[in-house]
Amino acid sequence: MSHQSDLIADDIKGYLKAQEAKSMLRFITCGSVDDGKSTLIGRLLYDSKMIFEDQLAALESDSKRLGTQGDEIDFALLVDGLAAEREQGITIDVAYRFFSTDKRKFIVADTPGHEQYTRNMATGASTADLAILLIDARKGILTQTRRHSYIASLLGVKNIVLAVNKMDLMDYSEDVVNTIDTEYREFAKDFGFRTIETIPVSALKGDNIITKSAAMAWYAGPTLMAHLEDIPVGDARQAADFRMPVQWVNRPNLDFRGFSGTIASGTVRVGDTIKALPNAQESRIKSIVTYDGDLDEAVAGEAVTLTLEDEIDISRGDVIASKDTPPEAADQFEAKIIWMADQPMLPGRPYIFKTVNKMVPGHVTDLKHKVNVNTLEHTAAKQLELNEIGVCNIALDSRIAFDPYGENREMGSFIIIDRINNTTVGVGMIDFALRRASNIHWQALDVNKSARATMKLQKPAVLWFTGLSGSGKSTIANIVEQRLYARNRHTYTLDGDNVRHGLNQDLGFTDVDRVENIRRVGEVSKLMVDAGLMVITSFISPFRAERRMVHDLLEDGEFIEVFVDTPIDVCAERDPKGLYKKAKAGEIKNFTGFDSPYEAPERAHIHLKTDEVSAEDCADKIIAYLEGHGYLSAEGFTSGGGI
Ligand code: ADX
Repeated sequence: MSHQSDLIADDIKGYLKAQEAKSMLRFITCGSVDDGKSTLIGRLLYDSKMIFEDQLAALESDSKRLGTQGDEIDFALLVDGLAAEREQGITIDVAYRFFSTDKRKFIVADTPGHEQYTRNMATGASTADLAILLIDARKGILTQTRRHSYIASLLGVKNIVLAVNKMDLMDYSEDVVNTIDTEYREFAKDFGFRTIETIPVSALKGDNIITKSAAMAWYAGPTLMAHLEDIPVGDARQAADFRMPVQWVNRPNLDFRGFSGTIASGTVRVGDTIKALPNAQESRIKSIVTYDGDLDEAVAGEAVTLTLEDEIDISRGDVIASKDTPPEAADQFEAKIIWMADQPMLPGRPYIFKTVNKMVPGHVTDLKHKVNVNTLEHTAAKQLELNEIGVCNIALDSRIAFDPYGENREMGSFIIIDRINNTTVGVGMIDFALRRASNIHWQALDVNKSARATMKLQKPAVLWFTGLSGSGKSTIANIVEQRLYARNRHTYTLDGDNVRHGLNQDLGFTDVDRVENIRRVGEVSKLMVDAGLMVITSFISPFRAERRMVHDLLEDGEFIEVFVDTPIDVCAERDPKGLYKKAKAGEIKNFTGFDSPYEAPERAHIHLKTDEVSAEDCADKIIAYLEGHGYLSAEGFTSGGGI
């Protein structure tokens, strides 16, 4: 790169050493292209001479050809050109640029201000120390300034620069800047920002970017670059309490057992007393091992292997922490969630929650409210859409170690992963643990599932029927139950229409309600299996995610998926309840197969085509499956048993 190429050529080691010793500032720029954002970033890169020489040559010729600035360089072209390079194939549209000056290294996350602003900005802001909010001096503080400020504060950004741009178009007026400054400080007073610095600039003309503006003699503060170079950021990660999530247990031979991972925050020293979570066992650090030999101490960001003085049970995903200030361990929280997927977030739907080092299944138990990012108002909602932010209660299947996000960004954040297609659908910031479930233990009863099953001489399981309305689920289920009854089997049928008269009478047919319908039925089925019964369920259960959830609730072999596969026109012709007629006439909404989706099973245990095979024969097929898999023979009964 231009200004340091001599040093690189003459003394590459000296260059690298100088780079290593410099502190790093991560920042994000918020605003839209119209506010002059590309011009500002281009100006910072150009004036700090951190543009590759070939880019510079291209920029000069492009500016003459395409630019909007006559013979001068159009910095917007530089940034837009870089943006074009990495646009393909990236879902989250954030460009990270690295540059450095003699004093400091910088990573700037540039997020497009327009579409999908929330998720892009959240991605860029989650590691930023500082946010530059660009304000057009002619327009003042706009809705988007408020939105960006809120998201920055939510993501824990502590320092704000209010860059009041286009001062050249406002006669470099001090009053304009003072008015904006006063209004902004009032607005942001509860956001927890440590510093707010208002800097009047003209990105286009270069005023107060790198050099002080002659046109604004009244301005006594620093230039933008001077502020970025001088603001103390002190590494918050290093200052925080020691935490290391265990990535793997390193056991090459019987004499060595170490726990490897990257230190998420704080410092660890040989001899420190530690606590391993979530099981709360204690020990002391015996050694800190690295590729380059043992260390006396290690800090946040370093990858190390820790050995302990005692043999304690720690596994992958556990967190080793300082004993006196350990993180909390819990399985229920309140958290803020930013939703990033086209498919909405539905409370009750199973997702994977990935914390600093652990993947845990769980679900949102309650969406308490949404936050309108433009007005900051709270509104009631049933689901979260793309780019929306909600305050939610979350329940995980097992406990995790965590700190509130406000205290530790690494330990307090998580991403949410779709269980079916493995994509990231949201990010979350933990506020606090919910205590309500932590004192409830699972009561182990002496008369247990296997005792009850043994007494009934059967292997309990759920025959889970899924298919469109009118596909024949209830008819076939009814015949199957009669056959099992005839063989002295203990059964119970849960049927959609019946359950919706009682337990689920509060639920309708929106996606959210269907998810909750199946969640409850899954839990009830599990209790009935525990009672030793053969359970037959007959629900449309249109979503794969919830059928999978029920599968996961039960033990191996207890979930038998029966796909009643009937083409929709055949169902519509049968129309036993007259509902297809009504749906066609537009009299009922959210009708499965019309304006509500049905996701067919991909690998059902039993696949029935009712337009080709009679209901009796379908029932025979199910009984044959149960016989073939040992569900009906006393010998095939494998659960063991007895009290
Ligand atoms: S599910 O989708 O949540 O699994 P469930 O099986 O409980 O549905 O209920 C479906 C039954 O409710 C249908 O068999 C039908 O009788 C009735 N019903 C009423 N309105 C609808 C609708 N909009 N969509 C589907 N089924 C409906």
